[in-house]
Amino acid sequence: MAGNAPTTTGVSHVYPRGSRLNERGRLEVGGCDVVELAEEFGTPAYVYAEDDIRSRAREYMDAFRARTEHFEVVYASKAFPCTAAYRLLVEEGLSCDVASGGELFLALKGGFPPERIYMHGNNKSDAEIEYAVASGVGHIVADSFDELDRLERLAPGQKVLLRVTPGIKPETHAFISTGQEDSKFGFGVDEVQRAIDRIDKLELCGLHAHIGSQVFDLGPYEKLAEVLSAMGDYPLLNLGGGLGVAYTADQQPLPVDDYVETLLRGAPDGVTVLCEPGRSLVANAGVTIYRVGTVKRIPGVRTYVAVDGGMSDNLRPMLYGARYEAEIADRFGGSDVCTIAGKHCESGDILVTDVQLDDPRPGDVLVTPATGAYGHAMANNYNGVPRPPVIFCSGGDARVVVRRETYDDLALRDV
Ligand code: LLP
Repeated sequence: MAGNAPTTTGVSHVYPRGSRLNERGRLEVGGCDVVELAEEFGTPAYVYAEDDIRSRAREYMDAFRARTEHFEVVYASKAFPCTAAYRLLVEEGLSCDVASGGELFLALKGGFPPERIYMHGNNKSDAEIEYAVASGVGHIVADSFDELDRLERLAPGQKVLLRVTPGIKPETHAFISTGQEDSKFGFGVDEVQRAIDRIDKLELCGLHAHIGSQVFDLGPYEKLAEVLSAMGDYPLLNLGGGLGVAYTADQQPLPVDDYVETLLRGAPDGVTVLCEPGRSLVANAGVTIYRVGTVKRIPGVRTYVAVDGGMSDNLRPMLYGARYEAEIADRFGGSDVCTIAGKHCESGDILVTDVQLDDPRPGDVLVTPATGAYGHAMANNYNGVPRPPVIFCSGGDARVVVRRETYDDLALRDV
């Protein structure tokens, strides 16, 4: 952990840095009492400790800076594409990756200088490429032969990286594994040379690979740096993101310092090494607060605690079987085994199965930690449920950085 990074007090490392249980036994995030936040801003809401994001960004920057001048930490903004987050990470000196024209729009709005933006996508449209060029995006990551044709036609002279599928498969969920040979992304190892030879009107600056997400093993990264380095000498080597985070207290993420050390060890001297963390910058910075509406006890079967959100604000349990923790915000602990259900008209709308709570009751504020990555990012309007606001907290002050969606917003696009 960076020298001055705040730790948590009385709560596990799954909660945002600087969190604690206050004198009233309530969770505090960024110095703000979340029960009071629920009253002030309503529920559900994504609550972030701003300083947590900053301290994690500094950890990456410091780990590189201690070893080399030739690096870029690139925020994989798909994890949390929110202008306030972009703004904060520009300030911390990061670069940024965008996976679509929409993310590019948000990154620019958040103040990222275009030359510090990398544009990804396995099927960028003509319009997206034209938008990137018109905006002056620094690098476009070319993903296929068809795209090379498109880029030469629409963006001659553009700086590009080639996305390589290195044939490395880390231990993670198949849906978030991207580096294996059988992948929709990038050029297979055997195709890279042909792609390089094919390039005529573009400036090839380097290679890129991302092996997957939520990775807890450094071995694949060591191999990745070797595989890419063997493919030729280029100024830039982008080794992707994917460092795993703790969603539950029993998970121990690898130290960022060890990860960075591994990336640099395998890269040739003089090359600028890029890494693209998304989740590990923002996941643990955020929690979701909900209000409990009903508690349904089925004797001998299960207790359902239903909250006012669900699969519209956190799709990860349904998509990946992701496991989360939950607590009543002012009564941590307890031994009532409960299942946290969402409010959606779907049986699979279960946020957490079999979690221990302290006598949950209607009106309680329930918190699920580690929702800062791919929560807001994948939020949707299923059942016409408005998307929650995003609230940034620091030093006891809370500010809304994304407002709650309204019913009027739901009809805004209808013509
Ligand atoms: N770079 C590229 C090219 C990527 O495709 C990704 C993630 C990242 C960087 C950042 O990976 P991270 O550091 O966040 O693990 N929706 C899924 C995650 C999909 C990740 C896709 N690519 C989830 O909620 O787990």
